[in-house]
Amino acid sequence: SRTAVVIPAAGRGVRLGPGAPKALRTLNGTPMLIHAVRAMAASRAVSLVVVVAPPDGAAEVKNLLDAHALPERTDYLVVPGGETRQESVHLGLQALPEGIGTVLVHDAARPLVPVDTVDAVIEAVREGAVAVVPALPVADTVKEVEPAEKPGDPEQVVATPVRARLRAVQTPQGFDHDTLVNAHATIALTGEGATDDAGMVERLGAPVVVVPGHEEAFKVTRPLDLVLAEAVLARRRA
Ligand code: CTP
Ligand code: MG
Repeated sequence: SRTAVVIPAAGRGVRLGPGAPKALRTLNGTPMLIHAVRAMAASRAVSLVVVVAPPDGAAEVKNLLDAHALPERTDYLVVPGGETRQESVHLGLQALPEGIGTVLVHDAARPLVPVDTVDAVIEAVREGAVAVVPALPVADTVKEVEPAEKPGDPEQVVATPVRARLRAVQTPQGFDHDTLVNAHATIALTGEGATDDAGMVERLGAPVVVVPGHEEAFKVTRPLDLVLAEAVLARRRA
């Protein structure tokens, strides 16, 4: 069966600061979204890419895809997104045609993920995992805090999880199609939220497996990340 990728790209990019929606900001002259689409379409296994555009930006995103060279073996669709990442992914899933067995969900904000990481995720799903996340060990010690009672009060540390057991998860996350669609439908009913797609599958009680992530799959979130992303691109071209 076919493999499709949903790329949520509908966020504003508040943490990046004022400017165009994050996915449309450029890295070395090319929109971040185009880098992300190319990164996914670089995998020969990917036959469809669904881009979830800013709600009022679907036409602009369609034009962008038309204006850039993309592999011809892959089909491209654009749908408008929602208020939250979760909603945007849900809208992307609803746009999938019949016959998709494996679905990847990939942040437009991770434009530089290497194709080997994409292929490793797809491979793990094809070998039978219902949910797969690429992940890396964390460098910083991570603390759980109790939020301050009123603004200005210090937060209190409540726990320090053992760092060796923590992983920072990236995208693309890969899923058996029906498992992810069920997870989204169930979570939408309960009104709960999750910050990643695998988190929703976990709540269904389904197993999620980890494959090695890659340092170049980092998420462009703050201005410093733009500097790093452009340096990585420059290094690739050198
Ligand atoms: N995203 C989306 N729809 C939303 C919010 C986020 O499709 N309503 C997408 C973003 O475009 C991004 C990915 O989800 O590709 C990861 O989200 P994040 O890095 O948080 O991006 P933004 O939400 O745009 O950034 P910020 O939180 O700083 O506003
Ligand atoms: Mg966000």
